[in-house]
Amino acid sequence: MVSCALPAVHANTIEKSTGKKSTSTIEITAKTGKTNLVGPDFPATNVWGFNGRVPGTPIRLNQGQMLSAMVHNELDVPTAVHWHGIRLPNAMDGVAGLTQPPIQPGESFHYQFTPPDSGTFWYHSHVNAYEQIGRGLYGPLIIEEKTPPVADRDLVWMIDDWRLNNDASIIEDFGAGHDKSHAGRIGNVPTVNGRFRDVVKVRTGERIRLRLINASNARNFALSFGELVPSVIAIDGQAVQPYVANEPVVVGAAGRVDLMLDMTGDPSSIMPVVDGFYREKFDLVKFVYEEKPLRDSPLETSIDLAPSDIPEPDLKNAIAHTVTMAGGAMGGLQRAKFNGEWMALREIAQQGYVWALNDVVGNKLDMPPLIDVQKGKSIRLMMVNDTAFPHPMHLHGHHMKLLSIDGQPLPEPRWVDSPLLMPKQTMELAFVADNPGNWLFHCHILEHHAAGLGSLVRIT
Ligand code: C2O
Ligand code: CU
Repeated sequence: MVSCALPAVHANTIEKSTGKKSTSTIEITAKTGKTNLVGPDFPATNVWGFNGRVPGTPIRLNQGQMLSAMVHNELDVPTAVHWHGIRLPNAMDGVAGLTQPPIQPGESFHYQFTPPDSGTFWYHSHVNAYEQIGRGLYGPLIIEEKTPPVADRDLVWMIDDWRLNNDASIIEDFGAGHDKSHAGRIGNVPTVNGRFRDVVKVRTGERIRLRLINASNARNFALSFGELVPSVIAIDGQAVQPYVANEPVVVGAAGRVDLMLDMTGDPSSIMPVVDGFYREKFDLVKFVYEEKPLRDSPLETSIDLAPSDIPEPDLKNAIAHTVTMAGGAMGGLQRAKFNGEWMALREIAQQGYVWALNDVVGNKLDMPPLIDVQKGKSIRLMMVNDTAFPHPMHLHGHHMKLLSIDGQPLPEPRWVDSPLLMPKQTMELAFVADNPGNWLFHCHILEHHAAGLGSLVRIT
């Protein structure tokens, strides 16, 4: 009975075998497409996607393999592709207006670099991001370890959150003032790999490596897996000492978490994965167990990933900076520097900006950098969220070691590229400024970035 009511599953799960492995150039075309996000009872949604799909074509490479991608723009507007979380040459970072000119309609751009680290990453538009990512211009980028831990399947869940009308069309109020000053563009239809409330078929005893990627404009997730006991094996693509997630697994906007999941439910049972980050809980997807178990007891092989080979910051000689996020609704910020001038926030808000980093509104790409440092120096950052909203802060081109949260040192400091700072939280991070260039450092709630919550780190 139950099984005949189920929609097909596999189209939604991006499996190993569908990824690209060759060193040849991948063709990626930014263009419009149509996809059924909500289900058979609703019309398909007009989206923008890489190769017309949402998520865009998954890219899978082996560690050490070169990524060569020819990006064509068949949209009516300029675009560019940023490779989120990859340590790469600045000229390949895909920030139009900073690291390259925008790719104009009808034009192409060749990206070529060799990602040094294995892990779970993603690529997305970096032009007018709140609209272009909001319409679907993103895809998974997986760099495989030389010796990955044993798993029966390696699944990618690219999680998004759409704001749709009743006919499943996109509500086109991108960059709305209220979203900028509050929690960002929170939608009404959360999807996994472009499907609302999808079903993932599993088997009792199966071990699944689950790569969570949050491609939402603004929504953060905190996922509960019922009676399953997920082990966290990587955060923001980088290996961690595996630990059991006793609490919901938090994936902030732009963040990634790799889990190892042993499917211990009974054959033929159904188990929802529930989000509870905000007040209202909802089922994101459902695991549906097949009748036949795969094995009687879980695998006992190691789930450790090889540690990342990222230069360790020299904490003793590090240059210290404090970076304070301020502004937004209920933030209490009165004045800030706008184009070099102190102004009342009320006046700045009239121009569409409401946030500041260290009292400076990040309204341009050619603004003076927040941090200007010589190549090779270590930086120690005290990040302070002095606002009423969570902010996932992303530094391009680097990973930062998270040392402490609210003054409590982490027993196992770990690498991050998009740490989520909760309201009033502080985090201490450190990194080696080893990659020359102009690197964006911004909140990945895309409406916050567009409203001033961003700056630059310049390394020369
Ligand atoms: Cu995910 Cu500025 O990027
Ligand atoms: Cu933010």
